[in-house]
Amino acid sequence: MPEAALVERLTTGLTPPIATQPVTIVIFGGAGDLAHRKLLPALYNLYVDGLLPPRFAVVGVGRKDTSDPEYREFAADGVKKFSRRPPEAATWQHFAESVYFGGAALEDASSFAPLGARLDTIEHERDLPGNRIYYLAIPPSMFVPTVKSLQRARFVGPPGGTTFARLIVEKPIGNDLESARAIDDAIAEVFDERQIYRIDHYLGKETVQNILVLRFANSIFEPVFNRRYIDHIQITVAEEEGVGTRAGYYDHAGALRDMVQNHMLQLLTLVAMEPPRSLDAEVVRDRKLDAILSLRPIEGAAVDAHVVRAQYTAGFNMGTPVPGYRQEPGVDPNSRTETFVALKAYIDDWRWAGTPFFLRTGKRLPKRASEISIEFREVPPILFNADPASPLDPTVLSIRIQPDEGFALLINSKIPGPRIRIYPVKMDFRYGATFGNASPEAYERLLLDVMAGDQTLFMRRDAVEAAWRWVTPILARWADEKTAPIPTYPGGEWGPPEAARLIASAGAKWRNP
Ligand SMILES: NC(=O)c1ccc[n+]([C@@H]2O[C@H](COP(=O)([O-])OP(=O)(O)OC[C@H]3O[C@@H](n4cnc5c(N)ncnc54)[C@H](OP(=O)(O)O)[C@@H]3O)[C@@H](O)[C@H]2O)c1
Repeated sequence: MPEAALVERLTTGLTPPIATQPVTIVIFGGAGDLAHRKLLPALYNLYVDGLLPPRFAVVGVGRKDTSDPEYREFAADGVKKFSRRPPEAATWQHFAESVYFGGAALEDASSFAPLGARLDTIEHERDLPGNRIYYLAIPPSMFVPTVKSLQRARFVGPPGGTTFARLIVEKPIGNDLESARAIDDAIAEVFDERQIYRIDHYLGKETVQNILVLRFANSIFEPVFNRRYIDHIQITVAEEEGVGTRAGYYDHAGALRDMVQNHMLQLLTLVAMEPPRSLDAEVVRDRKLDAILSLRPIEGAAVDAHVVRAQYTAGFNMGTPVPGYRQEPGVDPNSRTETFVALKAYIDDWRWAGTPFFLRTGKRLPKRASEISIEFREVPPILFNADPASPLDPTVLSIRIQPDEGFALLINSKIPGPRIRIYPVKMDFRYGATFGNASPEAYERLLLDVMAGDQTLFMRRDAVEAAWRWVTPILARWADEKTAPIPTYPGGEWGPPEAARLIASAGAKWRNP
């Protein structure tokens, strides 16, 4: 069957989110890196796919004096460099006519009056009713001042009016529970929770959305997705790069805040959550919250036993020598910030009681890869598994989030021949091979959902705060231990030996993607 026909057949009957209402998308930080690399290319691709509403405007906001043609050039450059599709001249021209720039200093509400007048003019010219999406693509320290400026300048009406106002907030939301609450409280003074879309771009990835499809659209997995059949679950999010240019942020954050509190706990909830009774956003988000609330706290001395932190030292990346973390530009030479975390977590609910979840993330690991491995219990030590000297490999379901998106099932099979010899074969599904390389970027899906008013893939306040509550005792323990040596690993290796020992405590070993 031709690929297009296959894709059409496979998607028939599934309802994509539909954004029908004319909208103005206001990007605060419109001249920044995120807008350049992700948001403007995503909007262009949505336009090419005919998924934007029939009437729309995109208005980048920043402090620098920038004309509309200059901003369109900036957007064109971003699309040329980062879009999954190159810009096509006529289509780009049509799209670019809807792209504008507005000047404002975020903490200065008085500069919002001219911005408001500019938005009104654009909306009048383009026959837009004033539905607004405000995207905070700005440093987290500017979230609260910007929202206050929106309030003072009366940019936001109450929910349920004739037009809508929605807010998109980038991560990180706070750097601990207290600061997350302070940001959430300040935003809640201006926006109702139904108007707030907290982005974790991992949740927009096709493979991440496919976790629920895999679990709940197939009859073979759900009956065995529990403590009786699963030995343990591993989640690895590996980065190949070092800290790069992000030292200013990262040296105060570290891997636990940067990766575990958000992306990795979100992956964990999707693997562990109970089946929701519907796909309604609140129902799905309730079940995900249950999973986070069921995580057993790791506190006090248990932190030392269940969590490994480490820093990379000098090593190699693709054969090229690379400096250690403390030698990177902008990093405190005495920094105790972790660039690697491995931890053992338990979800104390009926489904998972006693099943360890191992989470591992780090910078300067051998490759960039995110993968979930679900390792099933071994078969009894009889028949083909009778010889303790050569135990059978376990059955493993691996979900590859990135790169090479897809999933694989490792199953023991007989090697052809007269003798019984057993080898784990791989049933491998690759998105690229089956559906072509047309997967939309995470930001495309997420922007579309905000336009359609669907909050399913966005983090609710209670879940963000529950995740902070769970990581806070770990951070507190580390903050108390001011002199204990921090394990290290050479750049280009899979973390310190302590991480291998952590998982060996459960009789397992890390599966390197
Ligand atoms: N870049 C990414 O790939 C990425 C990925 C995930 C999350 N994020 C998050 O997205 C947000 C934006 O990231 P980014 O990389 O785009 O940041 P960025 O390039 O450093 O900054 C974005 C914009 O913020 C404005 N800005 C910075 N400091 C300001 C200040 N003190 N007052 C007013 N405006 C200020 C600047 O606008 P003007 O100078 O033009 O006024 C700048 O263009 C951050 O919260 C980041 O954590 C980024």
